[in-house]
Amino acid sequence: MSATYWDYIRVEELTDLQAGLAQQDRELTNDEHLFIVAHQVHELWFKLVIRELESACELFNRDPVPETSLAAAARGLRRVCRIFRLATEHFSLLETMTTRDYLDFRDKLTPASGFQSAQFREIEILLGLENSQRIPLNEKVGTLDVLKTADGQTTPAWERVNERISAGISLRVALEQWLARTPIDGSRPSQGNDQERVDGFLTRFLRQHEHAIQAALGERSQSDSDRNAVQAKFQVELEQARDYLMDQNPRTRRIRAAILFIECYRELPLLAWPREILDHTLEVEQTYLIFRQRHARMVERMIGRRVGTGGSDGVDYLDRTALAYRVFPDLWKARTFLLRRDHLPSLDHGESYQFKADQG
Ligand code: HEM
Repeated sequence: MSATYWDYIRVEELTDLQAGLAQQDRELTNDEHLFIVAHQVHELWFKLVIRELESACELFNRDPVPETSLAAAARGLRRVCRIFRLATEHFSLLETMTTRDYLDFRDKLTPASGFQSAQFREIEILLGLENSQRIPLNEKVGTLDVLKTADGQTTPAWERVNERISAGISLRVALEQWLARTPIDGSRPSQGNDQERVDGFLTRFLRQHEHAIQAALGERSQSDSDRNAVQAKFQVELEQARDYLMDQNPRTRRIRAAILFIECYRELPLLAWPREILDHTLEVEQTYLIFRQRHARMVERMIGRRVGTGGSDGVDYLDRTALAYRVFPDLWKARTFLLRRDHLPSLDHGESYQFKADQG
């Protein structure tokens, strides 16, 4: 039997799913229909994001990570960014509904809320958000409690999220393992003097950072008092760079050194794709963050600052999550300390990062 569009895409089943709590979607206003479709479209995008993140985790959990897979991994992460951007755009479509139109059907949703989206939680977990970072719905109700029925029974949504937590797999952890093994200045963790070599790179980097600051100060034509104020700020920045890079924990130090090393020498053939991976990962977090912020602004425009159907304090809760739910702080922080090309520390073992065929 030859394939048809309607069988392959399952059009009849798909368009039969928009009735919400009614018998038929004909009973709904166009606004409520839009509201349901928008959520369903988001859930479909979330499903695809989950698949891409699972593939990325699987790859970066391998030891070694095959160099030839990095371009495909970068493409997968770029796809996640595009999905978040597109999903964020859907909020402007919802804004064609007025507050009054929404209020006409809102009460019947209570206590349902996007807060109960299990796939949204799975994405957070797969990225690497820790349970301890979560902001509860209110003093009594945690994020995962709302995935149970009113009488405390577990649901498929609750099971799905708990399985994710138990699996303990996340892009953050997988990337950290990969970064912890990344050769720095040609040195690998298996080498006896690796820590010394890593610290050597960090010390050279910090020295250059100091030179960069002196140079920046020299280029400023300001009054003495302005100059002193800026100098004090630069001094704080330098101390922050030292605290960040010379962390007490050698593994953290190595991971941060790897991020810096990859960013500094990204023109070297074997560092070009790792640098793309780091940049796309940061962009995944950036687009997810923008999704949260845009959702919050749409909500503020739609319902002001009233309590959410799920029972949170609405926009205030959403703004708090947008601020607090960061998963890759090291990738962001490294940007503060990066140096321009002519200030980079000299590279001792650049030949280790050439393609094998180039090494002769
Ligand atoms: C008129 C449209 C919408 C309004 C007024 C709205 C309102 C809210 C509010 C007030 C919350 C906080 C939890 C609560 O107390 O209920 C929330 C959470 C949430 N909403 Fe929406 N929402 C809308 C549309 C959407 C859409 C289309 C999606 C897409 C799936 C969505 C996804 C979410 C998610 C994932 C959360 C949890 C966020 C977190 O915990 O950080 N919302 N929404």
